[in-house]
Amino acid sequence: MTDEHGPEQAAAGFREVYGAEPAGVWAAPGRVNLIGEHTDYNDGFVMPLALPHTCLAAAAPRTDGVLRLHSAGAPGGVVELRVAELAPVAGAATGGDRGGWAAYPAGVVWALREAGLLAGAAAAGGADLHYESTVPTGAGLSSSAALEVATATALNELYGLGLDPQRLARLCQRAENVFVGVPCGIMDQMASACCTEGHALFLDTRDLTQRQVPFDLAARGLRLLVVDTRVKHALGDGAYAGRRAACESAARTLQVRALRDVPIEELDAALARLARAGADETVVRRVRHVVTEDHRVEQVIGRLDAGDIRSIGPLLTAGHASCRDDFEVSCAELDLVVESANEAGALGARMTGGGFGGSAIVLVAEADAEAVSKAVTEAFGGAGHRAPRIFPAVPSAGARRL
Ligand code: GLA
Repeated sequence: MTDEHGPEQAAAGFREVYGAEPAGVWAAPGRVNLIGEHTDYNDGFVMPLALPHTCLAAAAPRTDGVLRLHSAGAPGGVVELRVAELAPVAGAATGGDRGGWAAYPAGVVWALREAGLLAGAAAAGGADLHYESTVPTGAGLSSSAALEVATATALNELYGLGLDPQRLARLCQRAENVFVGVPCGIMDQMASACCTEGHALFLDTRDLTQRQVPFDLAARGLRLLVVDTRVKHALGDGAYAGRRAACESAARTLQVRALRDVPIEELDAALARLARAGADETVVRRVRHVVTEDHRVEQVIGRLDAGDIRSIGPLLTAGHASCRDDFEVSCAELDLVVESANEAGALGARMTGGGFGGSAIVLVAEADAEAVSKAVTEAFGGAGHRAPRIFPAVPSAGARRL
């Protein structure tokens, strides 16, 4: 984050673009996920925490149904749309990303309109929005969710809708699923909307029950590092939809509503049943990942509730092995972070987010943070990879007005 990233700068940016004062500036953060990967679309458990990196939206309402969008970080100037004409591209819901950053905020307005929430003074649903973001893009740190949630939070207040953060997160997910065409789960939007400073968010993605779990790294002499590998593998998008489809088909075979309903005690029996039903060996491994990962979230919760952050390290590393071997969503660079960090004395490490590139997290004693960072960077150099970007994950606040 730079010193210049703040409400004053975003307001100044708004004035420059639109020649008027914004009505306010709203912020929504990116996130890392501590544990619980690829569990959210299986109705399972996740445990994200918000980063200090945010997307800021400076905004003002309009009454003529025109939506104007501008991002300091994107080329191409102001995007102008009519709220009444917003519509998802045919086939978008099956995974065809319609591309372009403006689809995310436009999708949020579309979702509000579709839900019948644009009424009274907000009936036409117009607005001017200017964005400035410090959430790294393409790094698996939920820059898209931050953009959606900043938009939803701003419009919620501008239009006086009175929606709670959970409802806003759901609308943002719908925007992304249907309007943008990315079949993501609910974790990222909930993290950006609901996280609180100093806590990880324990979320049951089936009913969105949530609990703020104290996560005071500094008090324990610990640090959680984010290692952005700066790689994004093209196969990621289609592969995410494929993983989701495999999980849903396995749930049907097992006659459960979602894989979340397979208890860890019944995992072996469920895997045997899948094999008997002729399921592919890869599907069997996908299921093993989801069920063991949900169990790891519960184990991590148990340790954090006991005030013991340090001992979650091996669970993080085990989660990585499961993502790598059973769910196959890791990549060479992410594996190298985990391996080199652990070799250099980290307490545990794992990929975070969707995978296929993006970022890993590393839990480390404060005293070892520098040596571990250096070891990871050197390992990347030795393997011929671009130097990773490494920074501490400080559990920060969710979406808010500044
Ligand atoms: C992406 C998706 C989330 C979640 C993670 C994997 O970040 O947006 O919904 O599925 O991948 O845990």
